[in-house]
Amino acid sequence: MLRYMKKYWIFALLAALFMIGEVAADMIQPKLMAGIVDDGILGLSGNGTPDISLITTVGIRMLLIVLAGGLCGILCAAMTNICGQSYGNEVRKACFSNIMKMSFEQTDSFTTGSLITRVTNDVSQVQRLVMSIVRGLIRSSMFLIAGTFTLLSLNVHFNIVVACAFPLVILDIVFILWKTNPLFGILQKRIDRMNTVIGENISGARVVRAFIQEGTETERFDRANTELVETQMRVLILTSFMRPIMNIILNMAIVALIWIGAIQTKAGGMRPGDVMAAITYISQILNGMMMLAMIFQTFSRGFASGRRINEILHAEPAITDGPGVGETAVKGSVCFRDVSFSYPDNQAEVLHDIDLEIRPGEVFGIIGSTGCGKTSLINLISRLYDATEGTVEVDGVNIREYKLKELRDRVAAVPQKNELFSTTIRENILLGREQANENEIRAAAQAAQAEEFILEQPHGYETPVAEGGTSLSGGQRQRVAIARALLKKGEILILDDSTSALDLVTEAKIYDALDRDYAGITRIIIAQRIASIRNADRIAVMENGSIIACAGHEELLRTCGTYQDIYQSQVKMGGAAE
Ligand code: CTP
Ligand code: MG
Repeated sequence: MLRYMKKYWIFALLAALFMIGEVAADMIQPKLMAGIVDDGILGLSGNGTPDISLITTVGIRMLLIVLAGGLCGILCAAMTNICGQSYGNEVRKACFSNIMKMSFEQTDSFTTGSLITRVTNDVSQVQRLVMSIVRGLIRSSMFLIAGTFTLLSLNVHFNIVVACAFPLVILDIVFILWKTNPLFGILQKRIDRMNTVIGENISGARVVRAFIQEGTETERFDRANTELVETQMRVLILTSFMRPIMNIILNMAIVALIWIGAIQTKAGGMRPGDVMAAITYISQILNGMMMLAMIFQTFSRGFASGRRINEILHAEPAITDGPGVGETAVKGSVCFRDVSFSYPDNQAEVLHDIDLEIRPGEVFGIIGSTGCGKTSLINLISRLYDATEGTVEVDGVNIREYKLKELRDRVAAVPQKNELFSTTIRENILLGREQANENEIRAAAQAAQAEEFILEQPHGYETPVAEGGTSLSGGQRQRVAIARALLKKGEILILDDSTSALDLVTEAKIYDALDRDYAGITRIIIAQRIASIRNADRIAVMENGSIIACAGHEELLRTCGTYQDIYQSQVKMGGAAE
């Protein structure tokens, strides 16, 4: 992760330099103050009368040093922020781009909630770590080291105080860090969990309301939230012990300093101003230690987050580019050879020994009961998942040979669960092919029978779509998704149950438009209604992950019992098959 810091190290360096300036100003003050008290007020170097001119000159010097220190402080904060924020920005970008390359299998195993936490909260923790290293580490170590030396330079007898106070403080810090450390990993996991519950409930709000599940879901959220709060409380309670214990030690140290100081002053080895300065130095030293403890805590939290971010950054995409294929002689063929498939997180085989050849330009229907593996089958074509056994070929070449972009450029799919984004209708269609011009967009929308309703919207193509497409009806969403796929102009068009929300007349119009304007394109149509695919060149009937028959409509009606059953059931339901 350090490589993302490369561009910003100069800001880190400047921040460190300004910090040295700021701390140096803080550290000179007690010494000067001691001079004012001893020589200016008590007149110890002279005849015992106050020296007003010395108070004025040293006072002005102190003021100037404060101003210089303040300026250094401001510049240090600015540099630290530039460095920290830019670093966070780079890491977030890198994470996001890696997530985009992940296969479904990988995103499933991370879970959406966890990915969101990692890109937001975890990156912020690492950002804090970087900022506290740049700012706090230098500040606290300077207070600690330079403070100790200055304190001892005032009077070497103070070493007893240092020797007693330090081990106690270190014990306090180590104990609390040892207790809190393991909690940080757990804390991030709890945030993951809560984000997952929130995400699921917001995106599934309609289902939750429709099934009156607000109570159950609120309980689920409460559980996740309580677990998070409990862990957070444990961290906070533990850390809350740190400062009071430090304060007790600090006050004991001050009393000891005054006691030693008094003895030394009485013996003539020290002046009262120096005792005062010593008190400020010991506070600075112990505060430096406290700050260091906090930084260690930020360290352990930052490292826990860093590990989680690294898991994203180092996740090798499970599905990667092949060497590349280039032009092929055939265009639009798909061939499955002895393909079997099971989902990575599920042992059960979903597809068994599929052998199937779809010819260029063919209109190919797939039908079968729900859950029989239709979507799983077509997902293999554009390598959303890889087949467990056997090979899939597109245009006569094993799909693993293609670069992913090359392969996916050839395949335009309308997924069963169509995703629309929260932007305009035009942008949603343009996702199909960004360079498309106005005429092409309109032609695609017209073929998908979408233009009519789009033009009826308040701003036509510029009408914004709500997140997930919820501002459109199910059928409208499907038609926008079809227009998007048509715009892509792939060689193979896959429609996965993409017209299920459309009436038969609209569906027929889409198919007519496809016959007319997209004739050369291979079409793979998954449907629940026989009416949607009866005109296909061939229809594959699937059952429990296998293709049990593959022929034209008429032939299937004669030879395939399952197809006849589906047909009969749809005829009975009101002629839907006709
Ligand atoms: N499945 C799974 N893991 C997934 C997706 C699906 O284990 N990530 C399983 C399902 O439980 C199902 C089988 O894979 O038993 C086939 O799913 P799918 O191909 O989606 O079935 P379809 O035939 O497309 O079903 P539908 O008509 O309902 O879309
Ligand atoms: Mg499906």
